[in-house]
Amino acid sequence: MTTLFRKSILFTADRRPVRSFFQKYGMKLIAHRFVAAEHLKDTVEKVKELNARGLMVTLDYLGESVKDERLAAEAAGMVLQTYDAIERNKLNSNVSVKLTQLGLNISHDVCLNHMRKIAAKAKEQGNFVRIDMEDSPYTQVTIDIYNTLREEFGGETVGLVLQSYLYRTEEDLRGLLPSGPNLRIVKGAYQEPASVAFPSKSDVDGNYVRLVQIMMDNGCYAAIASHDEKIITELINYASEHNIRRDRFEFQMLYGISGQLQQRLADQGFRVRVYTPFGEQWYPYFTRRLAERPANALFVLKGLFRK
Ligand code: FDA
Repeated sequence: MTTLFRKSILFTADRRPVRSFFQKYGMKLIAHRFVAAEHLKDTVEKVKELNARGLMVTLDYLGESVKDERLAAEAAGMVLQTYDAIERNKLNSNVSVKLTQLGLNISHDVCLNHMRKIAAKAKEQGNFVRIDMEDSPYTQVTIDIYNTLREEFGGETVGLVLQSYLYRTEEDLRGLLPSGPNLRIVKGAYQEPASVAFPSKSDVDGNYVRLVQIMMDNGCYAAIASHDEKIITELINYASEHNIRRDRFEFQMLYGISGQLQQRLADQGFRVRVYTPFGEQWYPYFTRRLAERPANALFVLKGLFRK
């Protein structure tokens, strides 16, 4: 059911008339629930509000699958401006990026060159850049680029995301452990075939818990990115039973999702970071959020018929 729902939403969202309708009216009508703003200036105000409530942020300038060198360079420039805005406004925020936005589909070198400038900026400002993980054709090259950057700029400056729905992830994690990586663990948001990813949700969830526990057991800093309360409770208990200090992990959730849970955890003294996307290229991100949960599609329908 979940897979069928996700497939149908992603298929429908990709039809040209649906896409152009939402690109024209969607931000005003509905996407603002999941996307902070289209412009950096307005986004900064949203970040200040989150910070004032004790929530840290990671900013994501939206965009992916860029095939034009000019657009990749523009995106990289915007990421650099984002670091400047963070510093200028004294925001408690780091930055997350997608490699296909920075030219990975054009060439490995184009992407790596942009990433080097971004990592250099993050290091210079004592900040951090996290590389999001995209669909499985990009898994290996993303890990390779992460490894190169971590060697050049250090693991305190560059981090990566791993997805618990992929069979390969535990092996990938074990390969990275010796470098003491800072990793965000997610379940995975893309449509993947059963040849590479667990089809059953219970396997994805079980693997999620195992991966975070491996990180905690090995002294790595774990970014636990999920809204799944059962998993969050299980991992809080695990950390407490194994004397894992609260500054050795953080919870991460998406802007506009599970806001009360974010606040409750922050009020209890846990580190909580809100993944806050902004920019005009919000459509693919937005459709993935819809595909994750039937209730979100209903929310969209209601928004369309509301005056
Ligand atoms: P699950 O899908 O089981 O949901 C648990 C509960 O959370 C639901 O019952 C519901 O209450 C709530 N919930 C979940 N999704 C919701 C939604 N869209 N709307 C409303 N409620 C929702 N993926 C990826 O492939 N690469 C990446 O780099 C990232 N990066 C990333 C960063 C951060 C900070 C987060 C939180 C997530 C990602 N993801 C991601 C997305 C991730 O893979 C996954 O698709 C979503 O987090 C949903 O999975 P949950 O772990 O929340 O569990």
